[in-house]
Amino acid sequence: MLYDIKDPSLARKGRLRMEWAARSMPVLERIKGTFARTKPLKGLRISACLHVTSETANLMEALKLGGADVRLCASNPLSTQDDITAVLVKDHGIPVFAVKGENARTYYRHINQALDHGPVITMDDGADLVSVAHERRKELLPALIGGTEETTTGVIRLRSMARSGILRYPIVAVNDARTKHLFDNRYGTGQSTIDGILRATNVLLAGLKFVVAGYGMCGKGVAMRARGAGAHVIVTEIDPIRAIEAVLDGFEVMPMAKAAAAGDVFVTVTGNKGVIRREHFLRMKDGALVANSGHFNVEIDIPALRGLAKSKRQVRELVDEYVLGNGRRINLLGEGRLINLAAAEGHPAMVMDMSFANQALSVRWLAAKGAERLERAVHPVPAAIDEEIASLKLASMGHSIDRLTAAQIRYLADWKEGT
Ligand SMILES: NC(=O)c1ccc[n+]([C@@H]2O[C@H](COP(=O)([O-])OP(=O)(O)OC[C@H]3O[C@@H](n4cnc5c(N)ncnc54)[C@H](O)[C@@H]3O)[C@@H](O)[C@H]2O)c1
Repeated sequence: MLYDIKDPSLARKGRLRMEWAARSMPVLERIKGTFARTKPLKGLRISACLHVTSETANLMEALKLGGADVRLCASNPLSTQDDITAVLVKDHGIPVFAVKGENARTYYRHINQALDHGPVITMDDGADLVSVAHERRKELLPALIGGTEETTTGVIRLRSMARSGILRYPIVAVNDARTKHLFDNRYGTGQSTIDGILRATNVLLAGLKFVVAGYGMCGKGVAMRARGAGAHVIVTEIDPIRAIEAVLDGFEVMPMAKAAAAGDVFVTVTGNKGVIRREHFLRMKDGALVANSGHFNVEIDIPALRGLAKSKRQVRELVDEYVLGNGRRINLLGEGRLINLAAAEGHPAMVMDMSFANQALSVRWLAAKGAERLERAVHPVPAAIDEEIASLKLASMGHSIDRLTAAQIRYLADWKEGT
């Protein structure tokens, strides 16, 4: 079996971590059981490009139990957990192409190796697999019946491809399922981003000025958790509605030009580029910590920081100190890549349970549609899947809810009844 991982002997550690994650993934565990019995993915070749974490390993196991022939590569050069690549190869016989810290050249070689599989379904986190297939591996396109996309940035890229008429096969926007972005992006990114910053720096957040750029689902989570740790949170936005939300949620809102001078810690979660730039670095205090938790490492203008610096040294694992001409030190965490995955373990399994249940059931849905050929567009996760996942998750947490009475159903469907 062809694969490229750091060290197969890390499998024991990976096995324990995979098991630990599975304990908090009851919905996915249930799907594994159903898939193992019914084999809905029998014989399907799937190429996946995801953050290679203990939760992803459980998703890969689910697909394999469902009968799929799976290959996996990383969706970010720094997010791979090398013990997890080992357990997938050794115990599950899944070819993995991912090594933590790989350079851009290896990253794309691995994407191509995942595509060499000749997939009928792709699974992406950031749309790199889809874009390479469309740009450089066009011979693969006719066989593809569908794909799934995990994150906001990927969905944005795919919608742009669909708008330009370039997208050649249908994609399910897993990110947009309510059981995904309302929980994964908010609670997952919220907690794990703080976790990453703490593991990288061990700073005390209480009393610090903590700047969050972007008040979308991820930004809301990061701001909420930073406040919980005692930080004074400042939000920057470009959308007036999101900015009002931040103000009414009790945060200070200001442009980055002003926040740059005030902040001690900065986190970008916008899905945009150049959010922290040259003019902002020049205003920052000595010792500022700068991190990103958005999908790509373009939110912080790292080339500009490099250009301003008279020296750079690594002061801790995953912390680079840049000394500017004005003598101030700026600390860039995790090379500006997703800090929650670079310095911590990514989202907790509890929340990835819902995200990956969406992935597994969306793939089953695509497989069942198969020959029917969906429109070459970005499709939502069917509402029935979203609701089923929510019900199963709630039940697994020991909660129950009310049901509509017949009179309530009639009332909600009726326009005549008023005051
Ligand atoms: N770290 C992770 O594990 C993780 C998890 C989920 C999503 N993501 C990524 O995080 C990013 C944000 O995702 P989201 O779901 O919160 O998206 P979102 O669209 O809900 O929110 C992004 C927000 O950023 C704002 N914004 C855009 N440009 C800005 C700028 N220049 N300055 C300030 N604000 C700006 C937008 O107005 C919007 O409110 C995406 O790249 C997504 O793929 C990361």
